[in-house]
Amino acid sequence: MSAVVLAQLDAILARATDLISKAPDAEGVEQCDIGLLGRKNGELTAILKTLSSLDEESRKTVGARANQVKNEIEVMINARRREFAALTGAGAIDISEPVLPRPEYGALHPITEVRQNLETFFRGKGFLVLDGPELESEFYNFEALNIPADHPARDMQDTFYIKDHPTLLMRTHTSGMQVRALQMYGAPLAAVVPGRCFRNEATDVRHEHTFYQFEGFVVGENVTLAHLKGTLEAAAQHLYGPQTHVRLRPKFYPFVEPGMNGEVTCVICAGQGCKLCKGTGWLEIFGCGMIHPEVLKAAKLDPKKVSGFAFGLGLTRIAMLKYGVGDVREFNAGDLNFLQQ
Ligand code: DAH
Repeated sequence: MSAVVLAQLDAILARATDLISKAPDAEGVEQCDIGLLGRKNGELTAILKTLSSLDEESRKTVGARANQVKNEIEVMINARRREFAALTGAGAIDISEPVLPRPEYGALHPITEVRQNLETFFRGKGFLVLDGPELESEFYNFEALNIPADHPARDMQDTFYIKDHPTLLMRTHTSGMQVRALQMYGAPLAAVVPGRCFRNEATDVRHEHTFYQFEGFVVGENVTLAHLKGTLEAAAQHLYGPQTHVRLRPKFYPFVEPGMNGEVTCVICAGQGCKLCKGTGWLEIFGCGMIHPEVLKAAKLDPKKVSGFAFGLGLTRIAMLKYGVGDVREFNAGDLNFLQQ
């Protein structure tokens, strides 16, 4: 007898599973509930009512199984109830709602892209990435870099001075962070300093009063010009590809000795000579050299014990070359037509 009832229970569970899963709506789920578990005519209820006619032993086994089946059916019904409630209740997704136009995504500014690219490269080589003040002291911007008050370089790097604060100015280059950083961290030190710089310029397609530089320096024992060349060549190849070469030619900068102009193989003609490189095959993109002993002294280091190299890349110039921008003023104009290209 009990075997027959157990088989009936299994059959009910199988059918219930099928019916509940196929219920088309909330109303259908309630029909299942009444049809299976309803007090008066529910299928399972009917079986539970027959339990009293079984002997004690069978009552135990069949009763336990019947309760189990009842629980399972209840769980399934409640799950489907929640499903349909989510479709219509608060927080429901309204599939008839009109689709909004695609949100407008921003993009990184071309100079930010170049800056981040170089930061990643130098971080990978063990350099610190440092930030510095745009409003700089005359000492760090000039004095500490071996550019005294009467030095002609101050004319070439004329900038914006701050009224009533004769020792403050808008920095003309990020090189001012050399001495600041060496005072802060001491030697050995390898760091790069990206940042915004300012000069009092009459603006045209090649000159801007606000532009971006990327300074770098390494100070320690036995740091040589070979390290400088290797570092710059690796950076240039990272930017422009493995076929890129670096050429260094003497140039005067007060804060390096020897000082050099750094050029890379022309990105357009690969060294053949074209309009961009004025037929030379080379593009000038940085200044560099071995840090001047006076600069090391300003940082309270002993030039007999440590040496260092420094370089300054024009981030704005690199972005111009990379994206073929003909007018430097585009970068700061905030013109969306330019920025969205
Ligand atoms: N600060 C220089 C400038 O603004 C660029 C520069 C030249 C940086 C030589 C250096 C360097 O570190 O060694 O024109």
